[in-house]
Amino acid sequence: MKLLHLDSSALGANSVSRELSAAIVAQWQARHPGLEVEYRDLDSNPLPHLTGASLAKADPAEAEESARVLEQFLSATIVVIGVPMYNFGIPSTLKAWIDRIAVAGRTFRYTANGPEGLAGGRKVIIASARGGVHSNSPSDFQEPYLRQVFAFLGIDDLQFVRAEGVSLSPQHRTEALAAARAAIPAAVGTVSQAA
Ligand SMILES: Cc1cc2nc3c(=O)[nH]c(=O)nc-3n(C[C@H](O)[C@H](O)[C@H](O)COP(=O)(O)O)c2cc1C
Repeated sequence: MKLLHLDSSALGANSVSRELSAAIVAQWQARHPGLEVEYRDLDSNPLPHLTGASLAKADPAEAEESARVLEQFLSATIVVIGVPMYNFGIPSTLKAWIDRIAVAGRTFRYTANGPEGLAGGRKVIIASARGGVHSNSPSDFQEPYLRQVFAFLGIDDLQFVRAEGVSLSPQHRTEALAAARAAIPAAVGTVSQAA
């Protein structure tokens, strides 16, 4: 079984979402020592923006990487993604990855009855970090967006491990991280039932 681990924070070692995504993967590995883990850092190793030239497959190397990214996603049973909130949404580096895996005919298709997701049967865990507090607020274009994208692709098993309000004060950050870390076993436990 394969786990795909992605990070998208630009804050390196100071990143909350990186700390949480690594902790999620570590707990998953501890329960399943034979687990194959593939990692991509979308900050240091970003994908190019999707352009008209990308859709036309004008650059063979870019088209090859795009195909590889899609196959890497499709070959993973578990996907763990570190996702900071940037300007109320997700980092553009993660959006660039989503643009490569949302592919008509592979991960979704349109039918006479509406869109149909083709990438079901895998689990996605989001390690979410936000400077402010946005849960259940109209200011949240990060988590609802991710719910929509993965649901559209047919993935109904989406978990969030969330640290929010981390920029409010050092105490908020410490407490938010502790609460998020405490939520990891439940998220991993849910995942492990599928193993
Ligand atoms: C470029 C940038 C944009 C941000 N935009 C928001 C925002 O819109 N709302 C918010 O609550 N926090 C915002 N923050 C704060 C981050 O969400 C917060 O620092 C979070 O911990 C980032 O995740 P990370 O620690 O994994 O990098 C922003 C931070 C950066 C660097």
